Amino acid sequence: MTQHPATTDRPVDATAGAADATAGAARRADWWRDAVIYQVYPRSFADANGDGMGDLPGVRARLPHLRDLGVDAVWLSPFYASPQADAGYDVADYRAVDPMFGTLTDATDLIRDAHALGLRIIVDLVPNHSSDRHEWFRRALDEGPGSPLRERYHFRPGQGADGELPPNDWESVFGGPAWTRTTDPDGTPGDWYLHLFAPEQPDFNWENRAVADEFRSVLRFWLDQGVDGFRIDVAHGLVKAPGLPDLGTHDPMKLLGTGATPCFDQDGVHAIYREWRRILDEYPGERIGVAEAWTPTARRTANYVRPDELHQAFNFQYLACSWEAEALREVIDESLEAMRPVGAPTTWVLSNHDVTRHATRFANEPGLGTQIRTAGDRELGLRRARAASLLMLALPGSAYIYQGEELGLPDVTDLPDEVRQDPSYFRAAGQDGFRDGCRVPIPWSGTEAPYGFGPTPGGPSWLPQPAEWAQLSVEAQTGDPTSTLELYRSAIAYRRRHTALGGADNLRWLDSPAGVLSFERTAADGAVLRCTVNLTAEPVTIPTPGELALASAPLAADGPRSGPHTVLPADTTAWWTIR
Ligand code: GLC
Repeated sequence: MTQHPATTDRPVDATAGAADATAGAARRADWWRDAVIYQVYPRSFADANGDGMGDLPGVRARLPHLRDLGVDAVWLSPFYASPQADAGYDVADYRAVDPMFGTLTDATDLIRDAHALGLRIIVDLVPNHSSDRHEWFRRALDEGPGSPLRERYHFRPGQGADGELPPNDWESVFGGPAWTRTTDPDGTPGDWYLHLFAPEQPDFNWENRAVADEFRSVLRFWLDQGVDGFRIDVAHGLVKAPGLPDLGTHDPMKLLGTGATPCFDQDGVHAIYREWRRILDEYPGERIGVAEAWTPTARRTANYVRPDELHQAFNFQYLACSWEAEALREVIDESLEAMRPVGAPTTWVLSNHDVTRHATRFANEPGLGTQIRTAGDRELGLRRARAASLLMLALPGSAYIYQGEELGLPDVTDLPDEVRQDPSYFRAAGQDGFRDGCRVPIPWSGTEAPYGFGPTPGGPSWLPQPAEWAQLSVEAQTGDPTSTLELYRSAIAYRRRHTALGGADNLRWLDSPAGVLSFERTAADGAVLRCTVNLTAEPVTIPTPGELALASAPLAADGPRSGPHTVLPADTTAWWTIR
């Protein structure tokens, strides 16, 4: 990593800014409109008991890192009782903490400590499907045909003379048919049940009143524990087209780029979110709902965040966009435009636990999608990732950070087959199945694996970490002004302090050379922030617009930083304050 001089003389004090503003955020109305939200993947964040698997006491002990980073809120991927067929997205008991992650008391202790540090807690809710070990589903199988519990899922007789063919042609997102045949209590082959994901994840039937009642109760349960909101898993999947009509194709459904289908993005889902919004609004302190809705267009995404529905939805069009100026500008414009009529903030996200980390996506040629198994040009990937993050944090709305991206972590693309756990890896012709690569436990300190992830040097971690991660640990990067961690800390602190940044819809594009994006944001008080991104492979010389605030890479030595011109190197973003 090289020096980016702006951090040495940045005009804000990162530590003081973060602490003040975080305390402020805890009181502020509409806090979610410009929040920076950090995703913790509990399996891989911090392992307090040394069993190789992250846990809630581990997260709790590491909360000061998140406070120092300056984020507003933490979204925790599922930690509920689960057989872990899909890393916790197969929930067996929605009100219990899985013993591998701790206890309910650990969860409430974590919420309390986070609040004391000015951090909000958002938990994951998985309403599209349960685990096949959920009590309802077990009883539905045990009680056989005619059990009222079967009405809570989608059980159907098969087609063909002996019901030997699935009820329709739907394919699972993870590959293979979306139906599994059951065996009746007498041992004979029985009905089939629907699972849009793994067979261990049977889909709920949301037409059934008991399902809706149960989830209202689950929402209240966690709201009563003090959570500040929910990230709603597969929010676009709960309602299926009446009659479960054939798709007419045997292409596996991909989450990303999913067009209109009878299984996803049906208009009926919105009544559910209107109801949930009323529940969220009953509680003090602006509790929020965030939709994981993979819709074909930003306009369809906007339906989930109408004023009486959820607060935010992930912007997957942005996540899927390649590192190309025109494409990015288009997706930024479309995203902002789509949210205007509904008055919701746009969100920006580059990485999460389902896609190859952006440092690796941008290290490879564009067009490979979001599941990549090649490391590519790592140096280039990191350089672009830093530039992309600085761009993201300058955009109007709320931004999501996936654990480890603040360390510049790449995906681990060479995990041996025998350690892989992603269920889609084992099911032919589905989603490509390389999600384990972004789920490797993150490095905190020391020179020996698991690099402070667990308490003991040489101790276990559920996925092996690469040796070079010693240099990427929080400890190794802290205090190094050239590090990615310090870049994130500075950028988030600056974002809090600069009145033009954050939620306001105030972006104005400026003319710029081909391959360069440049925009300004003007605050009500007249302050202006200029962000310029050079996405080309060559340096560009531009008129110096103001006082340099931050840059994702050192500005070229021959570019006088306070002179009339600045040389912005390849794949670099810079922020300037104008007033
Ligand atoms: C969501 C989750 C993903 C999970 C799937 C099924 O897309 O983010 O990890 O596999 O839903 O629950």
